[in-house]
Amino acid sequence: MALLIDDLLTLARISRAEIQRQDVDLSALVASTVADLRRNDPDRKVEVIVAPDLHVPGDPRLLRTVIENLLGNAWKFTSKRENARIEFGRFKDQDGSSAFFVRDNGAGFDPEYASRLFGIFQRLHAATEFPGTGIGLASALRVIQRHGGRIWAEGAVQQGATFYFTMPEANLAAEKRAAPASAAKSVAAPPSEFAEVTQSN
Ligand SMILES: Nc1ncnc2c1ncn2[C@@H]1O[C@H](COP(=O)(O)OP(=O)(O)OP(=O)(O)O)[C@@H](O)[C@H]1O
Ligand SMILES: [Mg+2]
Repeated sequence: MALLIDDLLTLARISRAEIQRQDVDLSALVASTVADLRRNDPDRKVEVIVAPDLHVPGDPRLLRTVIENLLGNAWKFTSKRENARIEFGRFKDQDGSSAFFVRDNGAGFDPEYASRLFGIFQRLHAATEFPGTGIGLASALRVIQRHGGRIWAEGAVQQGATFYFTMPEANLAAEKRAAPASAAKSVAAPPSEFAEVTQSN
């Protein structure tokens, strides 16, 4: 009950909080969240792949709640997998738009209900199998919407899940870093965002 009230208070805080935009290193946020998950659950062996140096302009405190919720879910819903694997990266569409993603090879879900997952108290798994209150994704949705972005999910039963989110200024920030003012004339190679950093126990 105390946890439920905490989660509801977080949701209320997220809805009211003023957005303080600054450069946020999402890759570092993911890495520190994974370190916390490993500390709290040292017996789990999970392969985690984090694309390095993915930055966005956003509110660090609010974006931390998104990353913690998405990674926390990936960690939880892979708990029955022998070879659990979680990946964070950036997906680029052919039209140049991009989305960040958190992918896992866990329990997955029925795709028919993919949009419902973001509703408050909406859960597709029994609490006895995977505990939770059903507020995490509702909070993540609110944070991303408040940044002007979108969040959605893809998955299939027993075939893992991928959560995507966009941040409207993320493309701009990536371009700025790939071609800083001093090197503006040189043709910069595309950032090697999918260079992988593997951490595993
Ligand atoms: N990575 C995932 N794999 C499979 N199902 C997921 C995943 N993430 C979320 N879901 C489904 O979406 C539901 C809602 O997720 P949400 O994070 O809001 O709640 P929760 O994790 O159950 O509880 P809470 O985050 O409040 O502790 C989950 O109960 C589960 O059914
Ligand atoms: Mg959750």
